[in-house]
Amino acid sequence: MNVYTYSSNTQLNEAAAGLIAATLQQKPNAVLGLATGSTPIGVYEKLVEMYKEGKISFKGASSFNLDEYVGLPRDHSESYYSFMHHHLFQHIDLPEDKALIPQGNTNHPKEECTRYDQLIQEAGGIDLQILGIGHNGHIGFNEPADSLSGATHVVTLHEETRKANARFFNSIDEVPTHAITVGMAAIMKAKCILLLVRGADKADIIHKALNGPITTQCPASFLQLHPNLIVMTDSEAGRNL
Ligand code: F6R
Repeated sequence: MNVYTYSSNTQLNEAAAGLIAATLQQKPNAVLGLATGSTPIGVYEKLVEMYKEGKISFKGASSFNLDEYVGLPRDHSESYYSFMHHHLFQHIDLPEDKALIPQGNTNHPKEECTRYDQLIQEAGGIDLQILGIGHNGHIGFNEPADSLSGATHVVTLHEETRKANARFFNSIDEVPTHAITVGMAAIMKAKCILLLVRGADKADIIHKALNGPITTQCPASFLQLHPNLIVMTDSEAGRNL
């Protein structure tokens, strides 16, 4: 595991975007695993800037997002589909049919999970997986539990996660109760994982995830077993590392 702590958000964004750019340069048809949430926004901004300056292209690449709410129409402002289009996809040359997100607005979420895993497999797996971490140690929406699922699956969101995400909705009642998430297998099989962590409120959980016991009660702790994990934090999140 390689842990890098940056004194400014700009440096963190540049380093993370630089790693993604290097991946695309080495392998123009790279398969990227993407996350939503507040943590990667600055990195996506930097990627858009680099694309506009002609420094990178996503033309040959494909991407799989980690998760999507169940029951929100794609065009809902808080769907992860809308998030990705707003922050990244509409600004770059990644072909639309190569930018994949689980379809949460379906009457058959279980079939959608199977289809999504098949697509990841057909693409040859993830080359570079971008992750954030929840305050309870979740990655994707793999929440702390007595057991974890390898496959893409439907998950009941923890109250803590719904509360954390309520800031994006008018009230907590509007936050969906379920989501589709890529499971632990596709994440752990990624050739490289880039875990991004920002803010003092994440200092304890990232310390626990990287130094504590490997346990299903902290899904991110399994990242300790990954052979090619890169962690980038700001100085606040990284203060105990
Ligand atoms: C988002 C995702 C989540 C977030 C995590 C942190 O696609 O999979 O695991 O990465 O909830 O969210 P932020 O970055 O908003 O603190």
